[in-house]
Order: sequence, then C-alpha cells, then structure tokens
Amino acid sequence: MANADFLNEINKRRTFAIISHPDAGKTTITEKVLLFGNALQTAGTVKGKKSGQHAKSDWMEMEKERGISVTTSVMQFPYNDHLVNLLDTPGHEDFSEDTYRTLTAVDSCLMVIDAAKGVEDRTRKLMEVTRLRDTPILTFMNKLDRDIRDPLEVMDEVESELDILCAPITWPIGCGKSFKGVYHLYRDETILYQSGHGHTIQEVRILKGLDNPELEDAIGSDLAETLRDELELVRGASNDFDKELFLDGQLTPVFFGTALGNFGVDHMLDGMVEWAPAPQGRETDESPVESTDTKFSGFVFKIQANMDPKHRDRIAFCRIVSGKYEKGMKMRHSRLGKDVRISDALTFLAGDRALLEEAYAGDIIGLHNHGTIRIGDTFTSGDNYRFSGIPNFAPELFKRIRLRDPLKQKQLLKGLIQLSEEGAVQVFRPLANNDLIVGAVGVLQFDVVVARLKAEYNVDALYEHINVNTARWVYCKDEKKLDEFRRKGEQNLALDGGDNLTYIAPTRVNLQLSQERFPDIEFKNTREN
Ligand code: G4P
Repeated sequence: MANADFLNEINKRRTFAIISHPDAGKTTITEKVLLFGNALQTAGTVKGKKSGQHAKSDWMEMEKERGISVTTSVMQFPYNDHLVNLLDTPGHEDFSEDTYRTLTAVDSCLMVIDAAKGVEDRTRKLMEVTRLRDTPILTFMNKLDRDIRDPLEVMDEVESELDILCAPITWPIGCGKSFKGVYHLYRDETILYQSGHGHTIQEVRILKGLDNPELEDAIGSDLAETLRDELELVRGASNDFDKELFLDGQLTPVFFGTALGNFGVDHMLDGMVEWAPAPQGRETDESPVESTDTKFSGFVFKIQANMDPKHRDRIAFCRIVSGKYEKGMKMRHSRLGKDVRISDALTFLAGDRALLEEAYAGDIIGLHNHGTIRIGDTFTSGDNYRFSGIPNFAPELFKRIRLRDPLKQKQLLKGLIQLSEEGAVQVFRPLANNDLIVGAVGVLQFDVVVARLKAEYNVDALYEHINVNTARWVYCKDEKKLDEFRRKGEQNLALDGGDNLTYIAPTRVNLQLSQERFPDIEFKNTREN
C-alpha cells in the first residue's frame, strides 16, 4: 500500500519540457528557472556564449560551433515545496525524433513565445507533438523589455494557429523601454519591474489592488489608465483560467515577462507547481500503470553518449513511471527478461551528475548502458509488460556510408549499431549485399554520425548517394507469407540496427506497388521496441 510519505513524494513532483522556436529564449528561461530553484547562484552558466563558458550540454564541438543544443539534458531543482524536473529538448528541427521521445517523458510543457514575433514554425510543429498526448501547456510570452506586438493579437494568433484557448494570468504594463511590470489577474497585484537585475532574484515591489493610489506614481497616470482599460477588455474578451481545460490540453495559462530581465519567470513557476499535473501514469502492452503504484517501473526515452568527456560512457535516460528507485535495487529488463541490480543510477542536478540514493515517479534517472539498453526499453520490479508509445520513426533521408580505411569495417558496424540504439541515426543492412545504409529524419544527423564515428570509434567514414526514398518496418503474423515475401522482395529488404526486417523503397511508387502486391504484409512507418 502506498503510504502518505510516498504519495507526498509523487504529488510534489512536476516534470516538464520547454517548447519554443530557436531564439525565443528557452536557454535564458532555463537559466532563470534554475536560479529560482537555487540550483545556480548567478544565472548565466547554462550557455554563456558571451562569457566564454560552455553549457554542460554543449558536449560536442559541433554544437558549440553551430550554437545549437543537440542533446537532451535533464535538470532537477526544488521550487516552493515542490521538486521540478526540467527536460531540455534539442532546439534544432533535425532532432525532432529525439524531441518527440522527450515529450513522451514529461507531464506538461512550457511554450515560450517571442512576443515580438508571435507563433513561429518550430513551435507549431512541437505543439502538434504535444497534441498527440494532450499534454497540458503553460505559455510564457517573452522579451517584454523589447517592443512587442499587441499582446491581444499575439494571444489571438496562438488561439487560431495552435488551436488552444489562452487564459492570461498576468497582463503586461507597457513594453520595451517603458515596460513597467505585470498585473496578476488572479492575485489582484501589480508587480513592478526594474531593469538591470537579470542575473539575480529581484526584490520586487508589489502593489495590491488596481485602484491603489500608488499605481499612478509607480507606472505613470497614462499607463495606469491604459492598464485599467485594457484589463476591462481582456476580462471581457479572453478566457478565464479553467484547470480542467488546462489539464486536457485545451487551454493554456499565459504569463508575460522577460527572461533576460528575470521578470515573470517566477509567476510562471508558481502556476506550474500549482496547476500542472503531478507525475502521470503511462500505457503498457498490458494494463496501464498508475504513478501511485508502489512497484517500480520506468521507460527509456533517450540514450546519450559522452555527455561529459571526462566520463566516456553511455547513459540511458529512464523516466520513472511508478514506485521508487533505491540504490542497489533489482530491476527487470523487460525486453530481455533479465533481472539487473542497479547501484549506480545517476541523477541530474542542474546538469551535474551525482550518484542517486532514491528517486520517485516523475524523476529521470540515468542508467549506465553497456550496450544492452535501447530506446523504449521498460524496467519493472519483476513484471514483463512494456510501456508503449515510445516509437522509432521511419527515416526520410538515406545515404550509403563507406569507410576510407576498409580495415575498420567491424568498428564501423559496431559504431553504427550503437548510435542507432541511441536513436542518433538508423542503420540498415540490405539482405542482398554488404552495403551499410544510414537513415535519418533530419539532415544534420548525418554530420553528427560521421563526427561521432571519428571521435568515439576512430573510424573515418564518408557518405555516398543511394537510391532509397523511404523505409517501412514489415510485419506479418503468418510466417509462411512472411517467408514468401522475404524471398520475392529480397532486393528491397534489409535489417535495421535491432535486426528488424525493413523494406527499403527506391520510390514511393515502388512502396505502393509492393503494398498492393503483398496485402498480408504490414508496412509500418513507426516501430516500438
Ligand atoms: P533559445 O535557447 O530559445 O534559442 O534562446 P536564447 O535563450 O539563447 O535566447 C536567444 C537570444 O534572445 C539571446 O540573445 C538572449 O539573450 C535573448 N533573450 C532571451 N530572453 C530575452 C528577453 O527577455 N529580452 C531580450 N531583450 N532578449 C532576450 P543573443 O544575443 O542571441 O545571445 P547571447 O549572446 O545573449 O547569449
């Protein structure tokens, strides 16, 4: 039976990710969020492009050069009696597959919008992904210290383009040079902004009540009048916050502020811990698992190599779905049907790694991976079910990969298979020849693979064009029919990194013809472990 302490541990946790278009301010918000969580004394160490410090997640030279974050890191910090897990999602669209899987491991998302720009491309795509699970979304309208667009217009855009209702929780007073702060609609408070305090937690001045006579003094009588007029309009024209609709993913509470000026981020965090859901259960191939189940369970959504050059290892990121991790506990690796004792799981405090004593539902633990863990793997305390919904996607881009030095074929294959287990890329070995085909969802993955093969496996490889347009995993319950298909279709069949049979089609038309010719064969564009 779950006791009160155990339930309290679960209820105080919040696990979320930030979704945004590049440059909207995700990194800056992450810094400030960690600052509030006391995880960083002075904000500015997450990226610090200007200061020359490099983020913990900037683990590859390529990332630094391109100024993008390729990896997903995990940070845990306390906030107001709660424990918050923030999962960083890669910003570049080429890593959408990784991002997708990270979003399966969170219970809510923070959408960051550059209020001068409004809804941008990448946000649109990420919102589509969150829709698949109706993840609750909070919104932060950023960069109020710059001249922004009319906030009502930006909220309209969010509503119409992203198909989610907006409920402003705070309302901005001015913007750019005349940004004065926000009015909190539910606390009936004006919270005043002071510029130049972005790196520390500000002592803010708060004025209670809209008719507070000090308001005129603080923000000027023109802005005070505008604020009162706007609020009348906003209250009439926009939605009230509704927790049920929020939890259904149909309505988003909206906060305004400036991440750079460290203003407003705490209002959002207050909303997050108050309204965002505590860790949720997940579906399996048997019955769903509730987060309050006392038996341990979790799934792997990400595998990452060499996060820290000092530790040349591979870490599997496991989201705990239920129960409790305790150092030294035995877990069942469900796919392999094997029990393993885990005494060195890692936690990720503000990007630093530390050995972990215990962890609960909603937490992410890092498991050392010596080649037996794949994305989507399930760990339980003795059961054999598997979590569902952590897919591999059929790649859209293909290249043949070849060695400069033919003696290293074995290392090349080992490297490619390990990288495919991490989800960094997919590899296909045709049944009919000795080619090695690399498949990717985004074009940048090809460069990452060659760079990592060189750095981690000492293999010098190059790409050649190959006439492949798309791939499908093939299934058939009838062994005989599958055998027949294997014989007749051998020229187009390959094994992927996990030895799963895959149809490699030179053109869409070819795929379509094969589907018509072999109606008993299933051609799938996603695969789960
Ligand atoms: P990202 O992770 O979403 O890509 O965005 P990031 O936080 O790196 O922010 C992108 C740029 O926007 C950065 O400037 C950052 O300083 C700036 N920024 C973030 N929040 C605010 C804000 O509230 N107000 C203003 N005015 N700017 C903001 P940069 O010059 O590209 O980078 P940096 O050299 O300052 O790191």
